[in-house]
Amino acid sequence: MGRLMARFYDRVTAASEEAGVREWRRKLLANAAGKGLELGAGTGLNLDHYGEKVSSLYLSEPDPHMRVRLADRVRAMRGRGIEVADYAAEKIPLPDQSMEFVAATLVICSVRDPSACLGEIFRVLQPGGVYYFLEHVGHLPPRSDRWQRLLEPLWKRVMGNCHLTRQTEEGMRRAGFEIEELRRDDMPKGPGLVRSTIRGRARRPKPA
Ligand SMILES: C[S@@+](CC[C@H](N)C(=O)[O-])C[C@H]1O[C@@H](n2cnc3c(N)ncnc32)[C@H](O)[C@@H]1O
Repeated sequence: MGRLMARFYDRVTAASEEAGVREWRRKLLANAAGKGLELGAGTGLNLDHYGEKVSSLYLSEPDPHMRVRLADRVRAMRGRGIEVADYAAEKIPLPDQSMEFVAATLVICSVRDPSACLGEIFRVLQPGGVYYFLEHVGHLPPRSDRWQRLLEPLWKRVMGNCHLTRQTEEGMRRAGFEIEELRRDDMPKGPGLVRSTIRGRARRPKPA
């Protein structure tokens, strides 16, 4: 992400957050419960939305500049049972089936290997565990993704590897998730290139 991006992230995203994304986050995480992990936690914009049903929370953020801000926010909240770490979502150093939920918001667009990340999220979730997701994705017809395809090579160089055309829903299904709830909405006040979003809940199925 870089120092500048980390410094201005909350300001750059403020208009979208105020126009609705904060409320998306609140509703998305309202039922998160038990022992959980948030990947690519950024500056900690989800932290206000975890409720009392969350017993412990691991936050991971590989970017050192973002992580400083995240750690400051956790300290300011005097968050008990919250641990901050630096690992990437492609290789999570936690045991198999150890988490009751995993959250990742606006992260899969930026990771190096989305299949590896989704596979790792699946691996660390208990059977029946929930993955809460919010991602911007490639436009679907009737909207054209032509500009997203054209501008993606430049965009990802400038925007911390953020891809414009990923279809994260397909990746979740390929990883083995059952998608229980998926909403498609336009990012309020977001630039046209990242307007198409998905959010909801996917579950690691219990064995039959
Ligand atoms: C657009 S920001 C989103 C931050 C935060 N999740 C939010 O909702 O505001 C993308 C985040 O993903 C993180 N990230 C990038 N590659 C990652 C990876 N391989 N594993 C985990 N996080 C990653 C970045 O450092 C950055 O904090």
